[in-house]
Amino acid sequence: MRIARAIRLLDRALAPARRAGRRVVFVPTMGALHEGHASLIRLARRRAGARGVVVVSVFVNAPQFNQRSDFTKYPRTLAADSVLCRRAGADLLFAPSATDMYPPSHSTWVSEEALSLPLCGARRPGHFRGVCTVVLKLFNLVRPTEAIFGLKDFQQAALLQRMTRDLNVPVRIVCAPVVREADGLAMSSRNRRLTPRGRRLAALLNGALAFARWRFLRGERRPSRLLADARRLLRVPGLRVEYLDLVRSSTLRPSPRATRGDTLALAAWVEGVRLIDNLRL
Ligand code: PAF
Repeated sequence: MRIARAIRLLDRALAPARRAGRRVVFVPTMGALHEGHASLIRLARRRAGARGVVVVSVFVNAPQFNQRSDFTKYPRTLAADSVLCRRAGADLLFAPSATDMYPPSHSTWVSEEALSLPLCGARRPGHFRGVCTVVLKLFNLVRPTEAIFGLKDFQQAALLQRMTRDLNVPVRIVCAPVVREADGLAMSSRNRRLTPRGRRLAALLNGALAFARWRFLRGERRPSRLLADARRLLRVPGLRVEYLDLVRSSTLRPSPRATRGDTLALAAWVEGVRLIDNLRL
């Protein structure tokens, strides 16, 4: 596996594959990689086949963080990340510098204006503008045939699909299922900031969503009842729910009546760490 730490090195590494018209499958990340990312890279490897190229990017994208402290606290673990990438089957790790990605006079941004508004978008102003901008820039640099995104960030995946469609970006977006710990907690780089007690509280998130889905499968169709049932399980000291909603998966608008295919979406705070999760009915 090669590591390219500058745009010109990325171009040099990808030139033979581009000339030969090989498939380039891309996994964009912010690093601090874990088993969830490894599963995305393994999926990329399968989709690229033996002749294709799997590219993983590691770039901690300042514009998508709402608080400077969150950005500075984000773990930077490039050495460990490169080991994980190699073991999972990546061919190339692209880790550009901040000035490569955002030259000093950078002043162009990409905003999606529907799917980015509710849920996380309503609580994190500018977050999805930062995500869309960096992902489009990375697409322009890597020029992949396909890009893989995890469904833990299901709002992000939905709006990146919308962005590529709306802007005619010639990249196929592939979404991969949430990867969970044994107790159901969705894998996230943020989990490592939790104490053992916080970790146990965090596991309640998936439990509450699973309970609401179980109530749906038993016939409950009123969103208010499903959400109230889930909220009751989350009413514990040390855990604060930021939002818990039932939405139509294609529009992300509130669901008037629970229907198969809707998504339960949740954001909550534990020990100063913001966690998100979702479950499809
Ligand atoms: O999901 C992430 O890790 C980031 O939002 C992404 C897509 C790499 C953009 O910085």
